[in-house]
Amino acid sequence: MTLNAKSFKTDLIFPNVIWKTTLTDIDNNELKKFAYSLKNASDGRKLSNVNGWQSDLIHNSNHNEIQKLVEVLEFALTDISVNVGLPMGVISGMWININPINSFNLPHDHQGSYLSGVYYIDSEQAQGNLKFERTDNAEFFIPKESAGTNYTKFEETYPAETNNLYIFGSWMKHSVEQNTLDKDRISLSFNFSLLPDANYNQIETKTSVE
Ligand SMILES: [Fe+2]
Repeated sequence: MTLNAKSFKTDLIFPNVIWKTTLTDIDNNELKKFAYSLKNASDGRKLSNVNGWQSDLIHNSNHNEIQKLVEVLEFALTDISVNVGLPMGVISGMWININPINSFNLPHDHQGSYLSGVYYIDSEQAQGNLKFERTDNAEFFIPKESAGTNYTKFEETYPAETNNLYIFGSWMKHSVEQNTLDKDRISLSFNFSLLPDANYNQIETKTSVE
């Protein structure tokens, strides 16, 4: 009898899933104008962002494109939730990030919600990609010599490009790499929770972006 890898059935338990797509029906120019009008009117919030600006929560804004995004995202987030067995919820927080050259976001998660995501209003890859890292301490076990498969890698990076949308479990530790261009990266982040007024704690888990 020969027993090899193919002899086994495999289960993916506790998988870390990134749902990704692009949105083409959103007016990014309108969102960009809105972003700068918010920045001119408020100092914003200071959470995981370093040298960047983050707006107050805007999911209840009357702005047309924000309302459209909330509607589109709530539909998608609800469908994703149903697919994986999470309860139906609502967008409980949405905010805009404006990150100039040299800014970045420290590793953090989004406690208080169960799905989170980011949409890129104006960005290209050199302006700071979205990075996820595993939190199971596998770096203490998996040999560095391993091939870089989804099973063995320690981190994964997704391009921060205009129109890209990423959704992920709020527990997944993520950071944003440094913007290396002398041009603002503009993105919009959101949380999905059971309750509309659930605020969240954006927990920093390390003190450096790497
Ligand atoms: Fe985040």
